[in-house]
Formats: sequence, structure tokens, C-alpha cells
Amino acid sequence: MPEIIIGSDHGGFKLKNIIIAHLKELGFEIKDKGCYSEESCDYPVIAKDVAEEVLNSGNKGILICGTGIGMSIAANRYKGIRASHCTDTYTARLTRMHNDSNILCLGERITGSGLALDIVDIWLKSEFEGGRHLKRINMF
Ligand code: RB5
Repeated sequence: MPEIIIGSDHGGFKLKNIIIAHLKELGFEIKDKGCYSEESCDYPVIAKDVAEEVLNSGNKGILICGTGIGMSIAANRYKGIRASHCTDTYTARLTRMHNDSNILCLGERITGSGLALDIVDIWLKSEFEGGRHLKRINMF
């Protein structure tokens, strides 16, 4: 099973722990880049750590904050990162198939944990289609 790189700020800490437990149960290795408590912290710091680890390892990453938006804006600053903020399973599937998304961003204050776990599962299972979509992501 591949290793998943995961991170959150305080706003995503609870959902992160739910996702970690779920992925461990499925047999994934997890690298947790923080934060490690609900104490207030800065999401761009965590986004940078996860983005760099995703780029270095070639593994996928998951970032969670209150809305999922700050994490996605921050992670997409790093060349080679295609971070997707998803609130439904359709976009989670399509962003893998068409955008070869390598980081999934979720908002703990937006998406309930049941739906969030479905989004995670579908995002991890869906494959990039390549072809015309590869040509397009190479234009980024
Ligand atoms: C923290 O309060 C909150 O701003 C953060 O988790 C995130 O939602 C930012 O986009």
C-alpha cells in the first residue's frame, strides 16, 4: 500500500484524525506532517511541508483546514502540485481522472466526516486518464 502524506491546521485536526484512522484500517501507511493538537497554527506552514513531501516522494497528499480553501490556495503555489478542494464525490473522481490531482483538500467545517471519507476513498481509487488531459496539465 502506498504512503499517504497528510496534514491539517487546528480547523481540520479532528477530521484529519478520523481520516488517518480510516486509512490505517484500509492498510495505508500514513505520514502525518501536523498539526498535532487543536492549538491555533498557520495552515501555509503545513501546506508547504505536505506539498514538498508529495513532490519528493511521488505519493499523494491530503490537507484539511476549516474550509479546505486556504490549504488548496497555499498548496497550489508549489510547482507540480495539483491540489483539489472537493466537497462531493463527483469532483473527487473527476479531478483524479482529468487533473491528475495529487493533493486532496477538505474542509472540516464544510463536509461531514461520512461524506469526507467517501470523497477520500473515491479520490484515492480513481485513476488519471492521461491522453488529452496530460497535454492540458502540461500547459500549467
Ligand atoms: C482557521 O480558522 C481557518 O482560517 C483555516 O482553517 C482555513 O479554513 C483557512 O482557509
